[in-house]
Amino acid sequence: NKVVLAYSGGLDTSVIVPWLRENYGCEVVCFTADVGQGVQELEGLEEKAKASGACQLVVKDLKEEFVRDFIFPCLRAGAIYERKYLLGTSMARPVIAKAMVDVAKEVGADAVSHGCTGKGNDQVRFELTFFALNPELSVVVPWREWEITGREDAIEYAIKHNVPVPVTKKSIYSRDRNLWHLSHEGDILEDPAVEPNEDMYMMSVSPENAPDQPEYLKIGIVSGLPVSINGKEYSPASLLSELNEIGGRHGIGRVDMVENRLVGMKSRGVYETPGGTIIFTAARELESLTLDRETIQIKDSLALKYAELVYAGRWFDPLRESMDAFMKEITKTTTGTVTLKLYKGTVSVTGRESPNSLYRQDISSFESGDIYNQADAAGFIRLYGLPMRVRAMLDKGL
Ligand code: ARG
Ligand code: SIN
Repeated sequence: NKVVLAYSGGLDTSVIVPWLRENYGCEVVCFTADVGQGVQELEGLEEKAKASGACQLVVKDLKEEFVRDFIFPCLRAGAIYERKYLLGTSMARPVIAKAMVDVAKEVGADAVSHGCTGKGNDQVRFELTFFALNPELSVVVPWREWEITGREDAIEYAIKHNVPVPVTKKSIYSRDRNLWHLSHEGDILEDPAVEPNEDMYMMSVSPENAPDQPEYLKIGIVSGLPVSINGKEYSPASLLSELNEIGGRHGIGRVDMVENRLVGMKSRGVYETPGGTIIFTAARELESLTLDRETIQIKDSLALKYAELVYAGRWFDPLRESMDAFMKEITKTTTGTVTLKLYKGTVSVTGRESPNSLYRQDISSFESGDIYNQADAAGFIRLYGLPMRVRAMLDKGL
């Protein structure tokens, strides 16, 4: 009788509203999450939703929850997909889908719907979250059922059903924006050999046009999570928007890659993650003081799997949750400050300090000290190298 639709106000989701009413005979509650996609995308949504035939529009501000409960755990884990992708869209889908499950309960809906195509990752992320949080909800996916195949079809359907065609000029790219990142896919990017046009970028200037003077930043970190910039404390969401601003003007965090989608195909995408790139660098760097060799190795190896689970939409999988408990425990002592230098698209580390640092100058220094006795090295190397020595003796018939 009632369905909650993930609604953006664009052409596709506008057409889904009358389509759901016509084909399922249900009332449509539109839901829009504010995950930091920007005010332009949120303006005038209520009138638009109603004009499309929705009985109601629900908007929820999820910015702090998104950063605190979804972005920060991935940051703490060091989760990066296929060497480059900082998972901006992947982390946003579960927070949006979770809110949809809540809204369905609030308005008494028994179904949920989204406008993701049948070729992408996002459909999987939405639906796995629905399954995990309320297995009783029905899921309706117009893109997998209807005859509409392109923009012309959609406009025709809208006109036939008296739905105002959104006036905002549709970009040639498929984009997804939130507080963490902006992704670009489609159009000329579909040829992986072609360089993107400079005017595509929206969160960052090109490194060439960034200031000629470097900017220094001090990032304060407590237990693996950033809390301050240059000594000033921020909430999770405001810290990120501040860093986006700073990183964007130095051309930080552009990534151009070909990735493997969960559904099997390769896809070329370009991402802008200015603030995220800065805090990733800072958080990883502090671990060089607070974690030992073997711990870093294990943590990094788990981070690969963690990223894969997040990319694949398995946020609410007990496996990811358990790995998160590990990440939280292991980064308990990762507290301190990292100094960074931003300059023309690069972020380099110039200093790090921590009250829990395992680095001891009195041991590591080239000047002599008494804890580390150089004479101990002889026995250590003899025993450490014993297996190699035995093998070489065998080879030589000794
Ligand atoms: N390829 C990226 C991912 O799967 C970005 C997807 C962007 N989604 C979109 N609806 N434009 O996470
Ligand atoms: C879509 O197909 O809806 C967007 C791209 C993706 O989900 O990967």
